[in-house]
Formats: sequence, structure tokens, C-alpha cells
Amino acid sequence: MSTRVISSPRTTGEPGERILRYSLAERIHHWVGFLFYFYCLITGLAFWSPYMYWLAALVGGGPTARFWHPWFGVAFTISMFWMYAMWDRDMRITDADRRWKAAIKSYIENDDQNLPPEGRFNYGQKLFFWVMFYGIILLLISGIGLWFVEGIPSSLRWLRYLSVTVHVIAALATIGAFIIHVYMGTAMVRGGFTSIIRGEVSTAWAKTHHRLWYEQVTRRQSAGR
Ligand code: HEM
Repeated sequence: MSTRVISSPRTTGEPGERILRYSLAERIHHWVGFLFYFYCLITGLAFWSPYMYWLAALVGGGPTARFWHPWFGVAFTISMFWMYAMWDRDMRITDADRRWKAAIKSYIENDDQNLPPEGRFNYGQKLFFWVMFYGIILLLISGIGLWFVEGIPSSLRWLRYLSVTVHVIAALATIGAFIIHVYMGTAMVRGGFTSIIRGEVSTAWAKTHHRLWYEQVTRRQSAGR
């Protein structure tokens, strides 16, 4: 069966047809962001506990990791703001999300056919995005406190403690969200992973997981015909 990829307009809903879910730019930004985040993750864990210090050896040792960790943090912040510029509109919480949230019991019970339809991203994906977005803002602010800790006078020692506490809490929140994201994207939702690699999904996948988005895309396409 021949496969046709819909990049923007024109879908007929034929079984072999595929829809572009992520443009090349979106995919590149996603994976560049991942590299920056992953570097911060392994080096941050190495600093956090002596049991995980061996992770620093993977990236050149403790002093090298200490030097680059904040810079990669800055790079991840920039990449996260880039994602914000790309996806901000798609990530806003809508009435469809509120209906989906109200029916979350069906999701937990694997009763997907009773879930209200979702747009390009579902409520969980949006929550993940906002946890990462606000998480990185907190990590940046507290990270600057830790980066230039000698510059904080001893009379403001509480600011040092606050920086450490906020940095650890924000890091743990993003790590929790990241683990769920990877699990959902690789093990739970089949077809999701290929979409962030190759960019496309089948029409059946789009209908099943993001029906409102599917309808929007097809409506736009038939109007352009
Ligand atoms: C090994 C690491 C990662 C894997 C395997 C992964 C996997 C995926 C997959 C499969 C999708 C497409 C989901 C769909 O459209 O149904 C996706 C989307 C996305 N990813 Fe990742 N990702 C990773 C790391 C990250 C990191 C570090 C971020 C940092 C912000 C991130 C942010 C996003 C966002 C915002 C989306 C779009 C909405 C969503 O699906 O949550 N990802 N990712």
C-alpha cells in the first residue's frame, strides 16, 4: 500500500495516509533540548549524592562537570524558551482539557473510548510542558545563586539555603515529569516515539489520540481544496 504524508493540506482519511505531527524544526529543537537537559540531569545527580558521583566520570570528571553544568543549564533554558515560542498556543489549557480531566477515571481504568476528544496535545502533555517550563525558570534563578555563591554575603546566608532548596525541589519535579514523559512516549503510547523521530503519524493514530487536532487538520485541508 502506498503511503502519502500530509505536511499541511489535503487528507482524505485513506488508511495508508500519514499526517505530519512534528516539523523538522520541532524535532530538532526537541532533541537538542533533550541533550542539554540530559547533561544537566546526570551531572546534577552526580553532585547531589556521592552514590551517583560516578556519573560525572561519564562526562570528563567532577571539575569538568561542575564547570559545564551551569552553562548547559543556560542552554537548556534558551531551548525551553524556544519550545515555548513554538508551542505556547498549543499548550494552553482549554475546555476540552477540563472535560478530559473530569473524565480522568476512564483514563486510569484504560477505558479510552469514554474519554473526551483532545486537541494537538492532551492535558497530561500540557502539564508536562508547564512543569518543565516553570521548573527551568526556578532552576535558572536558584542556579545563579549557586553559581555565584561566594558573591552572596554571609549576612544573607538564608539566600544560599533557599537557592539549594529551590534548586533541588525544582530538579526533582522536572525529573519526575521527565520519567513519566519518557515512559508515556516510548512504552505507553505506541506510534508517539516515531512521530518525534520521523515527524509523521497515521490518520488512525491521530483520530485515536488527538481527535480534535485530527478534525482541525482535515477541516483546514478540505477547506483548502
Ligand atoms: C529520552 C528522552 C525523551 C523522549 C524518549 C521523548 C519522547 C517524546 C515523544 C515520543 C514525543 C511525542 C509525543 C506525542 O506527540 O504523542 C515527545 C514530545 C514532546 N517532548 Fe519529549 N522526549 C524526551 C525528552 C524530552 C525533554 C528533556 C523535554 C524537555 C522539555 C521534552 C519535551 C517534549 C515536549 C514539550 C513534547 C510535546 C508534548 C508532549 O508530547 O509532551 N522531551 N517527546
